Amino acid sequence: MLNFIENLAKSAGRLALEARKRLTEEEVHFKNPKDLVTDVDREVEHFLRGKIMQAFPDHAILGEEEGISNTGRSEYQWIIDPIDGTTSFVHGAPLYSVSVGLYRNGKPYAGAIYVPRLDELYSASLGKGAFCNGKPIHVSGRSKLENCLGITGFACLRAGLPKNNLPHFCRIAPKIRDIRRYGSAAYNLCAVASGSADFFWEMQLNAYDVAAGVIILSEAGGKVTDFSGGEKYPENGIVASNGAVHDEILRLLAMD
Ligand code: IPD
Ligand code: CA
Ligand code: CA
Repeated sequence: MLNFIENLAKSAGRLALEARKRLTEEEVHFKNPKDLVTDVDREVEHFLRGKIMQAFPDHAILGEEEGISNTGRSEYQWIIDPIDGTTSFVHGAPLYSVSVGLYRNGKPYAGAIYVPRLDELYSASLGKGAFCNGKPIHVSGRSKLENCLGITGFACLRAGLPKNNLPHFCRIAPKIRDIRRYGSAAYNLCAVASGSADFFWEMQLNAYDVAAGVIILSEAGGKVTDFSGGEKYPENGIVASNGAVHDEILRLLAMD
């Protein structure tokens, strides 16, 4: 099964990479002034759905662009984001990814995230570890915030929410080594899983942004919770870390 998911994510990523070379302004659309979707997002999701339905006709599928389909016939549900980081994709920036998550009885079961411009394929399945291009990955061991690299995003600003992430950013950024803003929640989770960053937090994400990343991070030894330390992520915020700094991040986020 993991081999299928890895090949699917990589094929979809290569489709996106090639299609980007031909992208025109007419193919860029707006869900709102800051929330872009392109014909390539839709084409990639159609590709992913076709391959999944061909191989697993009973499985349910939730995708960002076409919603939910085929529910109630199987314990398996695919949760897919055809292009995570569409803004970067449109602007020609490198960090966008294809995210393919598989849940079983409502729990993370397997996942793959492919970053075409980096040619990095992150993957994991339950109880079998996490990998990048076939090599095992593990979270960092950093336990002091001042030595940590943090990542965040601002989905909340894009959604125009009055209660947003800026106060958290201003409170956390001065306490850590540095902050990164990669623009793909799926890739952010892989960066923590591989140890190239130590924690990630964000508000206002959706299931398809994180479905594959959460099992990759967990299998890499990381910890994922909502902002109050529970399991209602991403709807109640998401905090993903190497485990060592998790409680400190929750404490800083709670200081509203
Ligand atoms: C977005 C990216 C971004 C996050 C946004 C997401 P999309 O995904 O993951 O990092 O901050 O909230 O919506 O819209 O490009 O699939
Ligand atoms: Ca997304
Ligand atoms: Ca997307």
